[in-house]
Amino acid sequence: MSFTAVIGLQWGDEGKGKIVDYLGEKHDVVVRFQGGANAGHTVSVGGREFIFHMIPSGLLRPQVTGAIAAGVAIDPDILIKEMEEVGKLSAPLEGRFWIDGRAQLVLPYHKAEDRWEEELMGGIGTTKKGIGPAYRDRYYRIGLRAVDLLSPRNLEERLRQSLDFNNQVLGARYGKPPFDFKEIHEDLREFGDRIAPFIRDVSVFLLEENRKGKHILLEGAQGSFLDINFGTYPFVTSSHTISGGASVGAGVPPRAIERIIGVTKAYTTRVGKGPFPTELKGPEGEHLREKGGEYGATTGRPRRCGWLDLVALRFSVWINGASELAITKLDSLAGTKVVKVARSYSLGGKELLYPPLDLSDWYGVQVNYVEFKGWGEISSVRRREDLPPEAKEYLDFIEDSLKIPITYISVGKEREQIIAS
Ligand code: IMP
Repeated sequence: MSFTAVIGLQWGDEGKGKIVDYLGEKHDVVVRFQGGANAGHTVSVGGREFIFHMIPSGLLRPQVTGAIAAGVAIDPDILIKEMEEVGKLSAPLEGRFWIDGRAQLVLPYHKAEDRWEEELMGGIGTTKKGIGPAYRDRYYRIGLRAVDLLSPRNLEERLRQSLDFNNQVLGARYGKPPFDFKEIHEDLREFGDRIAPFIRDVSVFLLEENRKGKHILLEGAQGSFLDINFGTYPFVTSSHTISGGASVGAGVPPRAIERIIGVTKAYTTRVGKGPFPTELKGPEGEHLREKGGEYGATTGRPRRCGWLDLVALRFSVWINGASELAITKLDSLAGTKVVKVARSYSLGGKELLYPPLDLSDWYGVQVNYVEFKGWGEISSVRRREDLPPEAKEYLDFIEDSLKIPITYISVGKEREQIIAS
């Protein structure tokens, strides 16, 4: 079996889009398996930048087939816009793009609730794309799925049930007038007509492609510490972002996933609220933000920046079963005089090699760093042995500490700015 998963090992924004785009050359099928339009996967080709929120970034390559699997929460407007854009940019999507009928729909009242909740309670700093409320409805078993669009009766029944619940919540909690059935129903019928030819059982499609010997890439969104179960709860997203999520989200058995590529930046960033032990709050953090262009691809928010955290990474390498590492943005550290890496935390007189369980302890840890001498410009380097000795030392230390090989090193935005081994 030949499934590869690309998973973020931090708090999202690790540069998975670039790695997926690069690997797209050697893969036949690329699949998004969780999350929704909260993701922003940036790909730079020939000096032009593309940001995908819904569809797999691998589709930019015309020979690639793409799929949105069962675990995804679909934003209809964004999906249609991106389908049109990518169809024009690479090749028409008919016959090379599929949507699992089980994927949930994000509806206008989900987005409104996400916004209003953030305003009312100060929230956790979501992307306001309706992700939490849409997944809540899935677990409450009142969600609408893509397959419902194929049956006028199911669509009407399910929308009435979902709207009834949601309008009551929105009225009681935020004092807002109810959403109108007719308008949403009409929009959904139109959307259904548009995407009907693309709806199928993606899990079975992957089984068939696998039997034909095709190479299939499972493209993760967000990062491991945003996982609903294993992240820094409650400052997390609402899906399973870890590699186990690739199995349940795409409908692929766990043992079919042979390669698990964990992607990490050469430092750490996070958007939204929540603990971040290695965060740099002063000018050093600002320097990293400017050097790395660390602004959210979905919301434009400035990202919080800090040093690489091996305590967090040790855990995410384990929980994902990462078989190799892709390190991105090594070039963004160029010119930094001293580069630090968190080797362990101290808490209550004890040394921790893995993050604490309790969220309040994440805020209370003292970080123990190892320091490295910085390096100069590396964006034109294409072989690991040609990197400056200081950068090599940095990478060797990460490999030794995490006990897995680094197989990709990204040294710039462009497709070809990568060292692959
Ligand atoms: P939500 O996924 O919009 O509900 O947001 C929940 C948390 O996940 C917030 O802290 C967001 O900033 C964060 N988040 C969601 N998607 C991404 C992403 O693609 N990159 C980085 N952070 C994200």
